[in-house]
Amino acid sequence: MKKILLLASFLITCLFMNAQGNDIKAQVDKLISQLTLEEKVSLCSGRDDWSTQPIERLDIPWIWLSDGPHGIRRAPATNKAGYGDQLPAICFPTASALSATWDVDLIYKVGQTLGEECQALDVNVLLGPGVNIKRSVLGGRNFEYFSEDPILSGELGAAYINGVQSQGVGTSLKHFAANNVETERMYMNSNVDMRTLHEIYLTPFEIAVKKAQPWTVMACYNRVQGVYGTQNPYLLTKVLKEDWGFEGIVISDWFAVIDRVEALKAGMHIEMPRVSGVNDDILLQGLKDELVDEAVLDNLVREILMVVLKAKSLEKEGVELKADEHHAFARKVASEAITLLKNDNEVLPITRKKYKKIALIGEFAASPRYQGNGSSEVKPTQLDNVLDVIKKEYGKGIDISYTQGYKLNDDNDFSLIEEAVKAASAADIAIVFAGLPLHYESEGIDRTHIDMPASHNKLIDEVSKVQNNTVVALTNGSAVAMPWVNDVAAILETWLGGQAGAGAVADVMFGTVNPSGKLAETFPVKLSDTPAAFNFPGEQGDVLYGERIFVGYRYYDEKQIEPLFPFGHGLSYTKFEYSDIKVSEEEITDKDDLQVTITVKNIGSVAGKETVQIYVSDKESTLQRPVKELKKFAKVELVPGEEKEITFNLEKRDFSYYDAKREMWIAESGDFMISAAASSQDIRQTAALILNSTQEIPLLVDEYTFVKALWDNEETREILKEFIPNWIGGWVYGEDKTLDDAQIPGFFLEHPLIKFPYITHDEMSHQDVKEIIERCKGITYIPELKQTVNVENVSFE
Ligand code: BGC
Repeated sequence: MKKILLLASFLITCLFMNAQGNDIKAQVDKLISQLTLEEKVSLCSGRDDWSTQPIERLDIPWIWLSDGPHGIRRAPATNKAGYGDQLPAICFPTASALSATWDVDLIYKVGQTLGEECQALDVNVLLGPGVNIKRSVLGGRNFEYFSEDPILSGELGAAYINGVQSQGVGTSLKHFAANNVETERMYMNSNVDMRTLHEIYLTPFEIAVKKAQPWTVMACYNRVQGVYGTQNPYLLTKVLKEDWGFEGIVISDWFAVIDRVEALKAGMHIEMPRVSGVNDDILLQGLKDELVDEAVLDNLVREILMVVLKAKSLEKEGVELKADEHHAFARKVASEAITLLKNDNEVLPITRKKYKKIALIGEFAASPRYQGNGSSEVKPTQLDNVLDVIKKEYGKGIDISYTQGYKLNDDNDFSLIEEAVKAASAADIAIVFAGLPLHYESEGIDRTHIDMPASHNKLIDEVSKVQNNTVVALTNGSAVAMPWVNDVAAILETWLGGQAGAGAVADVMFGTVNPSGKLAETFPVKLSDTPAAFNFPGEQGDVLYGERIFVGYRYYDEKQIEPLFPFGHGLSYTKFEYSDIKVSEEEITDKDDLQVTITVKNIGSVAGKETVQIYVSDKESTLQRPVKELKKFAKVELVPGEEKEITFNLEKRDFSYYDAKREMWIAESGDFMISAAASSQDIRQTAALILNSTQEIPLLVDEYTFVKALWDNEETREILKEFIPNWIGGWVYGEDKTLDDAQIPGFFLEHPLIKFPYITHDEMSHQDVKEIIERCKGITYIPELKQTVNVENVSFE
């Protein structure tokens, strides 16, 4: 009954939205005919820092755009920058923490909460989420991005957008695309090959657009293959609109437009913020000079008005900021993100039975670092610190000491270490709060190393010498090196946990919450182990994506490099057993879906949550492929002894690679391996699969196609036989043999078509070469695999 009611209310909402959509469309059509050229041009840039251009004469309203992403950074007025004087709002953990939850439902609720706060703060479009890939561990905005993996980034991005937009507030999916470096960010060229661009860097945007239709997409500062993101017709029109069906508008990143006319032609709707009237004048002149057609402008303005009027129509009056309720929810979110990296001898959780005296060490315990530096900085409604929370909520009956350990902004003051060591040796357990101070990671600047301050490392070293139960609680937005990893008993990655993160840390430490976070990025032992080590941040305005598709765990797998902690890793206070992997079919075609089922059981003594990861390995492939790739994941909650069966649905795309020459995704026939895993390096169960592809692939023939390819294909062989019968006949031995039996030496077959006039002594002319190419157009084939990428020696156990 409940389901029926829900369905009915969903249908009524759809009908209502549709009717409303039609109304707005009619309104927009009318407005377009009433707007002057100048007015239309003016709508294509912001009114000021945070609002769109209104046209009072026609009652066209303006809407408020605001950062984003993990809270609302709302300036006091639309023409104020809003750094320091922004309105208080909930500050959630940043994206690198949100992604460690691996929980799409939770991220949807985070989005919902943000949407609600936008309504309370009169914001119409929230500038987030950022779904760019963490290509290098040094990326200055890694704290603001989800993951090194495209599927995880895309799914979480889609959940966030759906959550925000469920509240009648839009989002801005950013920064489109291949925005992976902060150094020279306004100019840097992301020199990335097409296959990698699609498989790694565009996929998260594609998932988010297809599953959530963000109202806006934010075009990036950087260039992609030499063309600025704001004036890139391939990205903004071909890929975003035509291929993915994006229905919203593109706004520029702030001050990202270079050539206003080219930007309009490429499909960029609104330049943000307002940059004086210069660009409007340039655009107006460009239209008058017919550098761009007015119809192009009309289409973009129509789409802008659709978003503006929709946003206005969905505004809610009288929404109040539920500061306390949202703070409590932010604590829950942060606790789901905390990732237990190591826990020797079950040193955690802290119980009164085990420990009577606790030494809390480190300035971060008193002055938390809870968010990143730059445009995403939120003014929190309140801010907790671990020291106070522990004393207040968990301190009863426990002797708690606190020592500062180090000073923020001072890497060389070791005088506080002695005091901390004394406290640690007098206690039963020492918790060191360490990590990256604010100035270590920031928008606009990349890191140059992955080290924590020397004072933090030294503190951990010295404390661990006197205290066997040393726990390190890390605060950082991206991976750090841990030279002391083997000297401490436990490591808790607490990320940048937002305004309520301190409570979450306490909850996990004292076992009120069983940790369930898992890494959404690989933690390397050292910088030189990382995929982009040779090609970051780039030089002379160009960054070569030399590692290609081998980003994150794909690289560590391929190079067989042991990371410090692998992608997907995270421990719990309980243990989970995986069993009974099943695939719905052992053999499928590319047209079939495949169901993979796995049973997970809690075999420990406390309730907990496990994230099951499904990886696909293509064992045979024409193109080089990663050892394995994440395709699905799910988080399940289990009480002790409980088991659940989880089913995942895999489809063609999950088996495909992107063929850059043919500009298409191809699922090739062959053997695949499906793995159910607790991390990228903890494969628990595997199942084999055979894919019999029926996908017809266009045969690409040009002057440089090797004749071998034409000889091997039945259809093109006939064409060759027609053009060079005598030459082929020269390789036929035996009376009763035909041209098909010709034993043409491999040496000749390994020549491109353009050489054949010489090889056949002009039996094939240069004109024939052109004709053959023409005749081959439209011929397709279903490839048989000949080349095998060897993954046999990669252990899945
Ligand atoms: C950032 C965006 C942000 C915008 C507005 C830019 O510098 O790259 O992420 O939304 O500023 O603050």
